[in-house]
Amino acid sequence: MKKWNIASIPGDGIGKEVVPAAEQVLHTIADIHGGFQFEFTSFPWSSEYYLEHGVMMPEDGIQTLASFDSIFLGAVGNEQLVPDHVSLWGLLIKIRREFEQVINMRPAKVLPGIASPLANPNQFDFVVVRENSEGEYSSSGGRIGNGEEEIAIQNAVFTRKGTERAMRFAFEQAKKRSGHVTSATKSNGIIHSMPFWDEVFNDVSQDYPEMTTESQHIDALAAFLVTKPETLDVVVASNLFGDILTDIGAGIMGSIGVAPAANLNVNGKYPSMFEPVHGSAPDIIGKGIANPIGQIWTAKMMLDHLGEEESATKVLEAIEQVTRQQMVTPDLGGNCTTEEVTNAIIQELKR
Ligand code: NAD
Ligand code: IPM
Ligand code: MN
Repeated sequence: MKKWNIASIPGDGIGKEVVPAAEQVLHTIADIHGGFQFEFTSFPWSSEYYLEHGVMMPEDGIQTLASFDSIFLGAVGNEQLVPDHVSLWGLLIKIRREFEQVINMRPAKVLPGIASPLANPNQFDFVVVRENSEGEYSSSGGRIGNGEEEIAIQNAVFTRKGTERAMRFAFEQAKKRSGHVTSATKSNGIIHSMPFWDEVFNDVSQDYPEMTTESQHIDALAAFLVTKPETLDVVVASNLFGDILTDIGAGIMGSIGVAPAANLNVNGKYPSMFEPVHGSAPDIIGKGIANPIGQIWTAKMMLDHLGEEESATKVLEAIEQVTRQQMVTPDLGGNCTTEEVTNAIIQELKR
């Protein structure tokens, strides 16, 4: 039988609660399918690990992860224990960069039964293709001087290669959807990188004459996500713009606790990593009320990536059945626990 070897990194906070929940769902869907199974190897790399070892992962950590089919991650970051810039550069960002996970794909759509915070909730279903390796998140910059003279510099680095790659990926996604690509820009401002971004977008769009395109300034686009999200299909955005837009996307879905994501290695050299949009949710750690849907939907994206599309579809359908019955955690206005929602999804799969 086919066996998928998955490196599991629960990480910090509620990552430790929602990753095991999603693993149960993955085992269940594998049993139901009968033709494949999952083997999870769990790594304790986290802020607690840092306190013990002085590093977020061992020196050969990347090498260890390289042999897995995929990486399944919860969340990284616990400022009570380790400053974010240390934990994130040492684990989350390190994996994204070392494994050239240059695309972060983040879908957003309304789940049945969930009350949208929008005044006029229209059906929306779009995906944000976030450039995941450079842009505003470049490692170029630092701090100079001190006291009143101190300066902090962050250089935004946009390469033609990286920009074009994200845009081509977005157009390829649009081919499988309704064929409309929106570019998140800010070329009306004084940002040097964005006229360049627009130029590359126009160049790439020439290769996709059958697609419709639009460019929106990031500030206006942020508003459109709230006022008319149903007009969006594929949104291509730089690293920071994509980060912010996808939390708005999560917000209009009802909770950041449901939003899924995939960090994709697109050259096939290294494993991809699947981790939801949300973080470690320090305010609800240990309460048993973390919404597991974001992590389970993320598991669905991993199934798609592994080529188990039929099982992936079943997982999303089971999630939808459960939200339809309003069996949800407090972030969505319900009173279910993580375990209750997870079990309900598992029961739905078994029906
Ligand atoms: P967060 O997503 O952890 O939490 C924001 C709010 O959403 C909190 O009120 C939290 O309780 C709630 N929330 C998040 N996920 C939820 C879930 N599954 N169920 C119910 N409620 C949920 O964002 P933050 O507070 O900005 O960050 C906390 C820590 O997580 C920081 O250290 C940050 O750097 C880190 N972080 C990590 C990732 C990642 O690993 N991918 C992503 C975002 C933030
Ligand atoms: C995300 C997170 C990360 C990001 C942080 C924790 C570095 O917000 O995955 O959306 O900005 O990429
Ligand atoms: Mn984010």
